[in-house]
This record gives sequence, structure tokens and C-alpha cells, in this order.
Amino acid sequence: MSQNIKEHNDLSSPTGGQGAASLRIFLIGFMGCGKTHLGKQLGNKLQLPFFDLDEKIIEKEGRAINDIFELEGEEHFRLLEKDVLHLLTESHTNFVMACGGGTPCFYNNIDYIKKQGTAVWLNCSVDCLYERLIKEKSLRPLIKDLSDDQLRSYIVKKFGDRKIFYQQATIIISEDEVNLEQLTQKIFHS
Ligand code: S3P
Repeated sequence: MSQNIKEHNDLSSPTGGQGAASLRIFLIGFMGCGKTHLGKQLGNKLQLPFFDLDEKIIEKEGRAINDIFELEGEEHFRLLEKDVLHLLTESHTNFVMACGGGTPCFYNNIDYIKKQGTAVWLNCSVDCLYERLIKEKSLRPLIKDLSDDQLRSYIVKKFGDRKIFYQQATIIISEDEVNLEQLTQKIFHS
């Protein structure tokens, strides 16, 4: 048995999760908190499929997130986001998913996520989010046209509004630079 499979078996029941029958881990948190980066690593470590919800929406629609927002509006994007979240979840029992920053905040998605698996909030500080997002604004429709000053205010306001959803996660990781070992430890042994 490989180390990874052994790990997977040892770690098959996350804290506050749904037991050994399924292992669905949803990473949630503000844009730039590291959901995709850590999600890929976690999927690899646990030998589980990794889904990036935004990427799946892009695949399904055949266009970039920026274009979906521009051509069809945010409301349409949120519907797509909910549909793809449900489709992926209902067709897979085990996975790691990086949700979009807004996913838990619309259509009771946070309740759905918590029923289907384990919600893990990567709770980065505003300073850390700002430092990361300033370098990667262009692909994100909600921030791409903001100046650096506007970006900081936007993060403070939006993060404040969204906290009420994020903090419903079963597992909360309040560190800016979390590594894979710490993440795994926190999910399975906290
Ligand atoms: C959004 C976050 C993005 C993407 C879309 C909207 C948000 O995902 O879903 O641009 O509302 O915060 P990331 O958090 O992966 O950047």
C-alpha cells in the first residue's frame, strides 16, 4: 500500500465530517486565500480528484469568468456556480474542491456544502489577501478595474460582508501561510 493510500485510509474521517462513506472536502474563503493552490496539493496527497469550481464553470460554458460576468452578469454566474457545484457534488463521492470566493454566500450554498461534506475556511488576513490580489487582479471580474487603494477598501468591505458565511465552516484555518501538513493535520486531527 502506498504511503498516500495509507494516509487516505488513516485520514478518511475529517473532523466534523460525514464519516468514512464519503470524503468531500470543500475549501472556501475569499479570493486569494489559496484554495486552488492548497486544494491541488491536498487532492494529490489524499489521492482524490481535485475540482476547481471556476475551472469547471469555464469548461461548461466555454468562456472565461470575466466574459461570463461581462456578457451575462453576476446573477447568471451565481446560478451557473450553484448548478455546477450541485452537479459535481452529486456525481462524485470523494473529492477536494476549491470553491469560488463567493460560492458559500449565494443560494444557501454553505448549507448545501455542509450537508454534503466538510467545509474548510482558509481565513487569511486582509493584508495577506491584498498583497496577493494586487498581483492577480486581471482574471477576477470583481476587482480587475480597481486601483490599488480601491482594492484594499473593497477587500475590507466584501470580506466583512462575507464573513458570516465563511465562519459557518466546520474547520477554520486562521493563518496566512498554511502548508499542506498543517492543513491536513487541522482537517483530520483537530
Ligand atoms: C469570486 C471569486 C472567484 C470567481 C469569481 C467571483 C467572488 O473565485 O468565482 O471571480 O465572488 O469572490 P476565486 O476565489 O477562486 O478567485
